Amino acid sequence: MSTAYYQALDAIIQHVEALQERGVRFIPVAPETLARLREPPPVAVPAGPARSVPSPFPSATPALPTAPAAPPPPLAASPPLSLEARAAAMAGLRQRVLACVKCPRLAAARRNVVFGVGALDARLMFVGEAPGADEDAQGEPFVGRAGELLTKIIRTMGLTREAVYIGNILKCRPDTPGQASGNRKPTPEEMQTCLPYLHEQIDIIRPEVIVALGATAVEGLLGRTAGITRIRGQWHTYRGTPLMPTYHPAYLLRKTSLDEKRRVWEDMLLVMERLRLPISEKQRNFFLKALTG
Ligand code: URA
Repeated sequence: MSTAYYQALDAIIQHVEALQERGVRFIPVAPETLARLREPPPVAVPAGPARSVPSPFPSATPALPTAPAAPPPPLAASPPLSLEARAAAMAGLRQRVLACVKCPRLAAARRNVVFGVGALDARLMFVGEAPGADEDAQGEPFVGRAGELLTKIIRTMGLTREAVYIGNILKCRPDTPGQASGNRKPTPEEMQTCLPYLHEQIDIIRPEVIVALGATAVEGLLGRTAGITRIRGQWHTYRGTPLMPTYHPAYLLRKTSLDEKRRVWEDMLLVMERLRLPISEKQRNFFLKALTG
């Protein structure tokens, strides 16, 4: 099936989700539009210019949000790879990423490329923003203070870092020239440049659920900027895969109140339910004791 078809489908899903967030519960759809929606999707055209897909929505519909990078076709379009094929594909990708100098300033400033870590057949994948100083030094994502908190969250879910996959939108630490410490948000250009690597990682792993940690991860994966406070805790779709946005662990570290931590835990309970992981009473009431006791 054509890439354009799936890009249009993703954009439509995102648009409908955005309307839903704004409180829209019904969308008027003309009978002929419904008939068109029931038609089978077009098959892929091997060569030639991309085919545009007519929008099933009336032309008065506001413009769809623009994506920083158009994602490739959905994951379900081809069968999952065997574990050996995944290992080979990931090793090839790792080599390319480790040699990448597409962002010359980041490449010059980095100590390590932070590729990603975890199981190649992980059912759950966490995606963060970009490596910080600790990750840059060690070449592994989420190993600093925010990483320790993420590891705690993963363990509280009854999982291990080894059983999930952890990656970032950017594989290099955003440089901070003239600053001895601190981090900065990746630029849209840096995100566009690096995102294809993450798409490939997700293609190889085929997680059943993706957790987007913070607004930058949401922006990179869903192609739209949205207030994380508004959209966390609600299911979204990344190329057909359920995606749960939640707060970034670094944000939780800055907050003294338990409220945001409890919200993240509620989001993780939804993820566990979606993955049909066992949930004990202790896990379900994790924050009850802290809040009442
Ligand atoms: N924050 C991120 O978003 N990613 C990391 O790997 C570490 C901190």
